[in-house]
Amino acid sequence: MKNIAVFASGTGSNFKAIHGQIQLGNIFGQIILVVSNNPNCGAIIYAKEHKLPILIVNSIKYPNHDLYESRILKALGTSQIDLICLAGYLKLLPNKVVTRYKNQILNIHPSLLPDFGGKGFYGMKVHEAVIKAKVSTSGATVHFVDAEYDHGPVIAQSKVDVFSSDTSETLAKRVLQAEHKLYSMIVKAFCEDKIVCGKNKPIIEVFNEN
Ligand code: GRF
Repeated sequence: MKNIAVFASGTGSNFKAIHGQIQLGNIFGQIILVVSNNPNCGAIIYAKEHKLPILIVNSIKYPNHDLYESRILKALGTSQIDLICLAGYLKLLPNKVVTRYKNQILNIHPSLLPDFGGKGFYGMKVHEAVIKAKVSTSGATVHFVDAEYDHGPVIAQSKVDVFSSDTSETLAKRVLQAEHKLYSMIVKAFCEDKIVCGKNKPIIEVFNEN
């Protein structure tokens, strides 16, 4: 049984999807910490409703970066975390956390990385850029996290067709559905020790949504 920490800043629909699969008994893990910079976001409201332990870390509570970093490390250590899932966390993880939990941190991104990733590509900006570029395929990517935005080794991708009639909103909706399936699948595989980065090359699988 893996101990999971989820980091989220927004609605938390990916967090909810993973938690839902845990509750159904499909993922051999437990979410024992939910970290956010935003105490009023959907993810935190959901965590409270489900009585999951919460940690709020932001520049108001922790104006000093070292204290912010050590508070997160302490909480992760105390909870004996095996896996960190970034699910719409809008802050860069502190360096010491990335180093300490190398190959144990996953992120989901709403495009086929390395396309439409990196600093500035978040939320609807990703889908707006995809539509503007007139590409015919987009999708979702789960990857290991390193010190740069959207940069670590890719684990799996799910492809979604882009239609000429799509707006960034309609595309975002379809990609988000693909994200929920893909992220739950990869968290499940991680919890079964099927995803190992470091010694081996990361597993790269591509699933087609359409
Ligand atoms: C998702 O699109 C995810 O790919 C990105 O942030 C968004 C979070 O959405 N990293 P939600 O909060 O999980 O609904």
